Formats: sequence, structure tokens, C-alpha cells
Amino acid sequence: MIETYSLAQLPADLSPHTLPKHIAVIMDGNGRWAKSRGFPRIAGHRQGAKTLKALLRCCKDWGIPALTAYAFSTENWQRPLQEVEFLMRLFERLLQRELDEMIREGVKISFVGNLSALSESLQHQIERAVNTTAHNQAVHLTIAMNYGSRAELTQVCRRIAEQVQQGQLQVQAVNEALIEEHLYTAGSPDPDLLIRTSGEQRVSNYLLWQLAYTELYFTDTLWPDFDRAALHQALIYFQGRDRRFGKIPSSLSA
Ligand code: IPE
Ligand code: IPE
Ligand code: MG
Repeated sequence: MIETYSLAQLPADLSPHTLPKHIAVIMDGNGRWAKSRGFPRIAGHRQGAKTLKALLRCCKDWGIPALTAYAFSTENWQRPLQEVEFLMRLFERLLQRELDEMIREGVKISFVGNLSALSESLQHQIERAVNTTAHNQAVHLTIAMNYGSRAELTQVCRRIAEQVQQGQLQVQAVNEALIEEHLYTAGSPDPDLLIRTSGEQRVSNYLLWQLAYTELYFTDTLWPDFDRAALHQALIYFQGRDRRFGKIPSSLSA
């Protein structure tokens, strides 16, 4: 009998012991993907959503417990209204359409970003998705929606300043742990690996605090083409890094 290669299996050249526990992705290149095929930009966003779903499944299959995806930045409101409206409708439709499957697959869904600026109906879908998946444990998907690091950090400063002003907090008590408690990502581990597709090598206001010691991986692949093979390459890169966290190389420290 011919042995069939299971797609669910971790590729043999990857070690299960040193996989990232948390991958953050900047899903970039949807527009260029569509343009190169003569499609409108929105076709790229539609395809990009399929890519995210496939990647999430792959993370689950390969034993990567958390994925955080940049879906809409605080700067993306500056795009043509038509594109913004399409994206908002797409997010809402996806949340509606995919929720049952996410529940079945054990996906816990969270959001980071300023959600209060979104439409009531989208906020409602978000709340429903978060509440109904809160106890799932197979894989944790966080969507960065109307997210911007500068806005996040500004809000943290404002909250802490208010507490100090009201006499609830001593200035000396302001430390890194306290700042982390006020971030949208409070309680979640920092990403081990950041992947940005489409050839751009910038972080575009994404997780600036949380990426302090994250390994960065840039690929020319456009987001809608980012498949299992592409993730495999990113993981090979990741496993080749010596994460020193400011110390000396691990080979010298024995
Ligand atoms: C990323 O793809 C998706 C969002 C920002 C919502 P882009 O839409 O930025 O695609 P390009 O960069 O124009 O190709
Ligand atoms: C970053 O991509 C935001 C998302 C992927 C949601 P952009 O395409 O908006 O970033 P810039 O404009 O190239 O920096
Ligand atoms: Mg882009």
C-alpha cells in the first residue's frame, strides 16, 4: 500500500520543539495580487480571507497555538470609501459565515483594536464571536481590527495618567508589567515570529511594543498566495535563528 502524505503532519525538516507559540502576520499584497490578475482590489481581499482560514488550520495542524492577523489598521480608513465599505461588509459576512465552523474546530477568537469606531452590526458580530468561542482551546486567533500601536500606547498612557491624577496609583508603580496590563493584548504572550508578505519591510504601526524580541520574516509572496509551503519556509527561517534576548549566543553559554 502506498503511504499517503498527510497534510496535517508537521513537515519532517521542522522540529516540533522549537516552533513559534505565537505568529503575527501582516496580510499585505491583496490589492497587487488582484491587479496582477486584472481583478478589482476587492477580489484580493476576498481571496486573502481564504488564505487566513487555511493558515489558521495549518497552525492548528502543526501545533502552533496562536495566530494574530492584521486585518485593518487605523490608517486604512484613508482608503477609498468603496474599499473600506467592502472590507467592513466582508468582515461582518465572514464572522457570520465562519463562526459555526470555528466553534467546531475549537478556535478561540479575540480582537485587538479600537472596536468602538466600527458599525454597531459589526461590533455585534464581534461580540458574538468572542463570547461563543471564549472557552475554545485548539488554537487562538486574534484579529487586529481598526488597530494601531500608537493609538494603543496613547490610550495606555492616558489611562495610567488618569489613575495617577486621581491618586489611585503612585508614579513609582508605573512599570513594564503595568503597561502590559493595559494593552489590548494583555494576558497574551508576545509573538515569536512576525511574517509580512508582499515584499514590504516595515511594521506599519503593528504591535510595536509586543514585537520587541520577535523574529521578523519578510517574503515577496503576496498574501493571497501565502500557503502551507510558504509557512513552511517561514518556519525553517525561524528555526534557524538563535534568539538571544540580549544575552550571548546559546552555543557559548554552556
Ligand atoms: C492588505 O492588502 C489588506 C489590507 C490592508 C486590508 P493591501 O490591500 O494593502 O494590498 P496592496 O498592498 O495594495 O497590494
Ligand atoms: C498594513 O498593510 C495593514 C494591514 C495589513 C491590515 P498596509 O498595506 O495598510 O500598510 P502600508 O500602507 O503598506 O504601510
Ligand atoms: Mg498594502
